Amino acid sequence: MEIAKGTLSSVITKLGVLLTEEYKPLRGVKGEIRFLQSELESMKGALEKVSNTPPDQLDIQDKIWVRDLRELSYDIEDYIDTFMVRVKGDKSAKRPSFKNLVHKSLIKNVRIRHRLATDIRGIKSRIAEVQERRLRYDVNNGVAKPTIATVDPRLFAQYTEAKELVGIGHSSDELIKVLMDGNRFPLQQGKIVSIVGFGGLGKTTLAKHVYEKIRGLFDCCAFVSVSQTPDLHKLFMAILYQLDWNKYDDSFFNETFLDEQGLINELREFLGHKRYFVVLDDLWDISVWKMIRCALPDNDVGYKIITTTRILDVAHQVGGAYKLKPLSHNDCRKLLYIRIFGNENKDNIDGIEKCPDEDLAEVSERILQKCGGVPLAIVTMASLLASKARNKIDWYDVYNSIGTGLQNSDLEDMRKILSLSYYAMPSHLRICLLYLSMFPEDYKIEKDCLIWMWIAEGFIQCENQGKSLFAIGESYFNELINRSMIQPIYDECTGLIYSCQVHDMMHDLICSLSSEENFVSILNTGYDTSASKIFRRLSLQYGKDDNAMPQHTTSMQRVRSAIVFPSAFCVMPVLTKFNLLRVLNLQDCDISRGYSLEYLENLFYLRYLGLCGTHISQLPEEIGNLEFLQTLDVRGNNMFSLPSTIVQLTNLMCLYIDEFTRVPNGIGSLTNLEVLSTLDITVSMDIIEELGQLMELRVLHILLFIGWSGKLVECLCKLQNIEYLYIKIFGDHQSDFCGLDAWVAPRHLYRLDIEWPCWFSTLPAWMNQSYLLDLVYLSIAVRDLGQINLETLGRLGSLRLLQLSVDPKNLGTLGGFIIGAGLFPCLVFFQFGGSIGPIVFQQGAMPRLEILNFEFCVQAARQITCNGDGLELGLGNLSSLKDVKIYLRSRGASKEDVNELVAALRHAVEIHPNLPKHQICG
Ligand SMILES: *[C@@H]1O[C@H](CO)[C@@H](O)[C@H](O)[C@H]1NC(C)=O
Ligand SMILES: *[C@@H]1O[C@H](CO)[C@@H](O)[C@H](O)[C@H]1NC(C)=O
Ligand SMILES: *[C@@H]1O[C@H](CO)[C@@H](O)[C@H](O)[C@H]1NC(C)=O
Ligand SMILES: *[C@@H]1O[C@H](CO)[C@@H](O)[C@H](O)[C@H]1NC(C)=O
Repeated sequence: MEIAKGTLSSVITKLGVLLTEEYKPLRGVKGEIRFLQSELESMKGALEKVSNTPPDQLDIQDKIWVRDLRELSYDIEDYIDTFMVRVKGDKSAKRPSFKNLVHKSLIKNVRIRHRLATDIRGIKSRIAEVQERRLRYDVNNGVAKPTIATVDPRLFAQYTEAKELVGIGHSSDELIKVLMDGNRFPLQQGKIVSIVGFGGLGKTTLAKHVYEKIRGLFDCCAFVSVSQTPDLHKLFMAILYQLDWNKYDDSFFNETFLDEQGLINELREFLGHKRYFVVLDDLWDISVWKMIRCALPDNDVGYKIITTTRILDVAHQVGGAYKLKPLSHNDCRKLLYIRIFGNENKDNIDGIEKCPDEDLAEVSERILQKCGGVPLAIVTMASLLASKARNKIDWYDVYNSIGTGLQNSDLEDMRKILSLSYYAMPSHLRICLLYLSMFPEDYKIEKDCLIWMWIAEGFIQCENQGKSLFAIGESYFNELINRSMIQPIYDECTGLIYSCQVHDMMHDLICSLSSEENFVSILNTGYDTSASKIFRRLSLQYGKDDNAMPQHTTSMQRVRSAIVFPSAFCVMPVLTKFNLLRVLNLQDCDISRGYSLEYLENLFYLRYLGLCGTHISQLPEEIGNLEFLQTLDVRGNNMFSLPSTIVQLTNLMCLYIDEFTRVPNGIGSLTNLEVLSTLDITVSMDIIEELGQLMELRVLHILLFIGWSGKLVECLCKLQNIEYLYIKIFGDHQSDFCGLDAWVAPRHLYRLDIEWPCWFSTLPAWMNQSYLLDLVYLSIAVRDLGQINLETLGRLGSLRLLQLSVDPKNLGTLGGFIIGAGLFPCLVFFQFGGSIGPIVFQQGAMPRLEILNFEFCVQAARQITCNGDGLELGLGNLSSLKDVKIYLRSRGASKEDVNELVAALRHAVEIHPNLPKHQICG
């Protein structure tokens, strides 16, 4: 239903645009357009009333009406887009003589207007038909439910913590015991354990937990997701890559083409004499297991394999079935309360969790009963409850809507709970979530690309001026996370969310809703030739050559989004079959093998074009015709230049190219660009001038010839929206430049990454805690850095990653640094380079630091230690430390001194209670 509503909103907005000055040729039909607009407004009002009712509670007549309305609004939107393209196309056409032009466009205007008038008549009669059908059956109004306001922000912070802690500990200890057979490692035998349990029970979480805990005991390890329709070739490559990413990188597979059998042999050979640990998550089919098992040899040094599956039979056949039990009642309470009330109340009496709000105790118990000990159900429920007022009545409402009395199976209860949370969301979020059904199960969906697709589809509407579409999209994304609808994937060092996944159970739900609403058509194993449906969105996930596309030309014509995954590319219809595409994503499909992009320039509606990793070497020159294009992604190809017509794409907001892809002159006309990555500034300085015109830029990556950094600063000073700047340096690394000193970054900068040897001569004054509130990632080289500067950086409250290089020639740094209590409160990753004196960590410094990486000068250390008794860096004060690398610069020092220092440092690390991984090189 949100589909109908969403599309209607977008149609109404577009009708508004048609009424503006820009569309003069339509002047004669403006009355008609206004009529349509108000008609649709009132339909939307009526729809609003029914839209908050889950479909299983909807009247059948309402359902039909909604379906009609949905299809109608799709069609109207397609008509409007067609007018827009026609009118615009006319404007941008080549200009012959002036007289000719006036004459021609007059005729054309008359024609367009005539067509529009005809179409509107058609639409009007369809609207009337839909209305009449509804009236004829005297439809009730659906039960309106209150919509939900904002989300409790505390939820977010609790997310990973709560989920990982509650209940996992016990199962994980038990599983490790089973895995190790009670014996002490090393043991010279293999062991396979298959975790089994239904969806949402936390099999993957458990497997991940165990994996992280014991992976250090093995020579090599891999964690891969198998899922329902695995591509074994890719799966084997992924395993090899994880086992040894140095050996099995892209170039390995590039040089040695291996088929499935070849990969199996490679794996057997590689693993033959290694102690290995492999997790195969989400196994469905025993025949798949048998294939994979061939690649994982028995050996005489010992190996461990964990699989997870929902199917008991599969688990038994794999062997070592380990039935994952639901959470204990007490753990259920704990999980629910932490997620709703935070850690504020740690009340428990005799180990029994107590509800922080006594009034809600009883209803909580009832709700938990429904959740059946399934963590996913509890977490989802908690998100829903957190968004309600904390009172008994509202909570009982929730409880009652799960359904009562019926002998539901666990699975049905679970589904009810998920769908309840789904319907508790406002419709703009539902539509965005449904779009995720375009992606296969377990797929890692890149956040930014997803948001650009939402924008291209028109799901993101500008609520208020001043906030960009992307920022709104990002807030939707975050809200889906806060509501536990999608699972974020964090970057380990920066804690930034760069992609997401959808839980299998949720995926099942949205796929079935999508299909009911004819929102997305997933073509998994060939085409359903009997389908008379009109495809609106197409996801091609898996296909076989012999499953060739039937001549279903009409069904593709209305497709708005098409995402094709490599294993289905062989069944992708030719582009001429499509007409109205807004989103086309062919990422990683090999286009060079005979697929033609020839018709591309006729897909006038295209807003998102994803051609990343498609092996293309050029774009058609006519790409400039795609006037509405917003996102163009051609990374990972062999493309050395963009066509000159690219500068006509003035609606472009996001352009991803490789650093060797040259852009034509005139790029300064793309004034809507917000993301530009990676721009090559090594050949011509003129491009810097043009860059200064792109005032909307938020994300900018450049490859810079080092001599031009001064010139670049003039341009950067104009770009006041920059949030993320990456400068890669090209040029003579012997010379050094302090070209960026004059730059003052805008204050919402969150990521700055400037490669050595582009120096700041001193730490810029603007890098301080009162100015840069959002800075998370900082990687810079500063020639002259003093203790006081390091303290300034230490007060940047959001900083999670810091990479600093200083100039070893500068004596000031040789005295070393002291990092005092309270500094760098959020830092997780710290790298300090430049052969400096030692750093000393005092108690309470860098409380979250996990990865430490620095180099220092043995000579300088000598000077300090010769009057004291040994070197005390205070590593023991870094309470979260996991990984240490220290490089000693030994120039001018004796071999004994170096060895002594290495031994001292090694000792300091080895007595650290966390037993961090370490590497100390002299
Ligand atoms: C893969 O092979 C192609 C052509 O043979 C080459 O241009 C490319 O650089 C190779 N990629 C890698 C990562 O080695
Ligand atoms: C989700 O929670 C985070 C963390 O507290 C908060 O900052 C953010 O505003 C919330 N997002 C939405 C969209 O509600
Ligand atoms: C922090 O930076 C801002 C912006 O450059 C500057 O105006 C302010 O004086 C600085 N504050 C300190 C304490 O240096
Ligand atoms: C922690 O730092 C204090 C100084 O603040 C120092 O005296 C102590 O030795 C350090 N502790 C460890 C375990 O390194």
